[in-house]
Amino acid sequence: MDLKQYVAIVPDWPKPGITFKDITPLMANGEAYKYATDQIVTYAREREIDLIVGPEARGFIIGCPVAYSLGVGFAPVRKEGKLPRETAKVDYGLEYGKDTLTIHKDAIKPGQRVLITDDLLATGGTIEATIKLVEELGGVVAGIAFLIELTYLDGRSKLDNYDVLTLLEY
Ligand code: PRP
Repeated sequence: MDLKQYVAIVPDWPKPGITFKDITPLMANGEAYKYATDQIVTYAREREIDLIVGPEARGFIIGCPVAYSLGVGFAPVRKEGKLPRETAKVDYGLEYGKDTLTIHKDAIKPGQRVLITDDLLATGGTIEATIKLVEELGGVVAGIAFLIELTYLDGRSKLDNYDVLTLLEY
């Protein structure tokens, strides 16, 4: 299946010069969403994943159906101020802006094999911060899966030591 036909390209959004990749048409199509999810499930099975971790908000959209399919848990990584109990935190830079990401300190058991999921690898700032959180809690990053990679932003160079799957490249 050609998943690219379900990604809408939006020029100059949210700012002039940024070309946004809108995955909502893919999510709206049951067949396309299932096809993308199944590829990540296969990748996760091969790596004996114990837990999925995804950054808000679109990391949830990719990761939760994978967790359901595998019968493993999902731990959310959220922007500061959203998680109610004790958290680990890390500051990170975005393609457009800066922020802080957090995870509940008891979200991962030391030694658990974690698959990190997100919709998009752009500069890699978000995923680098998510990796730091997982490793700080003793998780093993056994795989990282993205729907889309923007190869021209070279986020991949931050992930040299990791096992990475991307379904679509631009
Ligand atoms: C977007 C996207 C990735 C991240 C990729 O999320 O969903 O998480 O940016 O960019 P990077 O590789 O340069 O870090 P955003 O921060 O816009 O949050 P949202 O999903 O909550 O809208």
